Amino acid sequence: MYTQSMDTQPDRSAPAEKGPATVMGPEEQRFQATVDAEGKIEPRDWMPEAYRKTLLRQISQHAHSEIIGMLPEGNWISRAPSLKRKAILIAKVQDEAGHGLYLYSAAETLGQSRDQMMAALHTGRAKYSSIFNYPTLTWADVGAIGWLVDGAAIMNQIPLCRCSYGPYARAMIRVCKEESFHQRQGFDIMLSLCKGTASQKAMAQDALDRWWWPVLAMFGPPDADSVHSGQSAKWKIKRVSNDELRQKFVDVTVPQAELLGLRIPDDHLEWNAERNHYDYGAIDWDDFWRVVNGDGPCNKERLATRVKAYENGQWVRDAAVAYANKQKARQHKEAA
Ligand SMILES: [Fe+2]
Ligand SMILES: [Fe+2]
Repeated sequence: MYTQSMDTQPDRSAPAEKGPATVMGPEEQRFQATVDAEGKIEPRDWMPEAYRKTLLRQISQHAHSEIIGMLPEGNWISRAPSLKRKAILIAKVQDEAGHGLYLYSAAETLGQSRDQMMAALHTGRAKYSSIFNYPTLTWADVGAIGWLVDGAAIMNQIPLCRCSYGPYARAMIRVCKEESFHQRQGFDIMLSLCKGTASQKAMAQDALDRWWWPVLAMFGPPDADSVHSGQSAKWKIKRVSNDELRQKFVDVTVPQAELLGLRIPDDHLEWNAERNHYDYGAIDWDDFWRVVNGDGPCNKERLATRVKAYENGQWVRDAAVAYANKQKARQHKEAA
């Protein structure tokens, strides 16, 4: 997976994000001209401090989401219904680890160490996508996550392939290719269930009922309430608004649900010929904010599992450092 629109957390430590400076210095003018001309900003280039901070927050939250996103599906590796499904799911979860690693590397180019980012995640200071705080109750949830959550991630991430910050944009190109495989494997699980017995189809419907609304909320608050969007658009970090992406997702997904023979749990869902889009019902933003702020069904469990995995991996990090030191000492000896 991942990602929820990352502009959900007002960051009071970055006052410059409230609006562009009235007078730009020569360095900032050069920076903005590069961005306006669709050029890429690279780690060694001059950049406004608020641009660096915004990207650091967004990319590290994105990385955390990939890593935490492994947990709800990882729970099903040992219970996958066949060897084929198990092999596919292992590959998918492993891809998410890879996405996390590209993104941590991209974030490191902005001046924060991996240890600092990990500490922020483990102490709850850094956020990750709220969608992973919902439980995976049945095998159909693995299908629904691939189909809907990874599907939403693709919508969100394709515009990021053209983000103005080079390392982030380049990481996203590979990530998007893999997300498209994830989306298809999820849809394939749903298709098999929907072609199966009545109880398998009911399981697929139940998963759609539970995931639909949290997935719509994943795109982030309505444009009118988005705190960072204006400046992010000017910097070409965020190119398409939350509401536009959400609409695009609904328009693409409704026919897919029809093909599956499933009902989207929204009485207000209706094709609007005038707008040329589907109309849809109201999202429960109170529930979204409750989960973002730590009170979702699985927030505590996810974080505890992540911290435990990190602690259990300490010996691997220690061994890697000891090995690197030994290699270095040997090279010194040979050079002497
Ligand atoms: Fe991913
Ligand atoms: Fe994915």
